[in-house]
Amino acid sequence: MSPGGAVVIRLYKVCKEFTAGRTAVSDVTLNIERGEFALLSGPSGAGKTTLLRILFGQEAASSGKAVVNGRNIHRMSGAHLAALRRELGLVFQDARLIERIPVIENIALAAEVCGIARSDARRRASELLELVGLEHAAGELPGSLSSGERQRVSLARAIANDPVLLLADEPTGSLDRATALEILHLLELVNEAGTTVVVASHDAGVTSLLGCRTMRMNEGRVVEEVRPEYAAALAAG
Ligand SMILES: Nc1ncnc2c1ncn2[C@@H]1O[C@H](COP(=O)(O)OP(=O)(O)OP(=O)(O)O)[C@@H](O)[C@H]1O
Ligand SMILES: [Mg+2]
Repeated sequence: MSPGGAVVIRLYKVCKEFTAGRTAVSDVTLNIERGEFALLSGPSGAGKTTLLRILFGQEAASSGKAVVNGRNIHRMSGAHLAALRRELGLVFQDARLIERIPVIENIALAAEVCGIARSDARRRASELLELVGLEHAAGELPGSLSSGERQRVSLARAIANDPVLLLADEPTGSLDRATALEILHLLELVNEAGTTVVVASHDAGVTSLLGCRTMRMNEGRVVEEVRPEYAAALAAG
């Protein structure tokens, strides 16, 4: 059980103003429970990335309350922030791999940073490479992989610490449709294994492919929410 019980993300009237009078996130109140798969959708500039950055403590909310895995992240810093990040996994549009070390080391390193002993980290990295179908690429440098393969490595790295919560910002943004589908499928597998997953995407195609709880943002606000049963019906056409 997480320190926060069944709710992994609890946002109450969260606002973010970068410059006075221009709100990137406006009055967002929502809860995401352990085990959920949720999508933040909405057009470019809607505030999705800003909201994710607040969740992993890269931006501080201007007002409101944000609790992630039982931790109040308002004005969190230093050791507390580091501890929170060890409980999270992050995936970005660009895979952000370390180019000068082999694929397997990229994943093992992430596990080690989170306190897993080196030999266990290597074993875990091998298992994760198998999960994402890239065991054959363990010893290769990231530069020799396709963008879809790089994103699979990035996903394996993000779950190396067995995170409570996986946050993925435009994880399919630079991929073709078939490869995007593979990544979304892997995210669903990660979710089925128990990790809470929140994906942000401005790609309407992702919304139709996922059929999950969807919170549509516009101009900083959550303007519509579609629950899984309706989303599934919509996705089925
Ligand atoms: N560091 C920053 N400084 C100033 N303004 C910012 C900053 N980051 C984001 N913004 C502004 O906040 C608003 C929301 O941006 P955000 O990146 O969260 O949108 P988004 O929904 O993720 O868009 P996209 O779909 O293009 O990724 C935009 O108006 C953006 O210009
Ligand atoms: Mg964004």
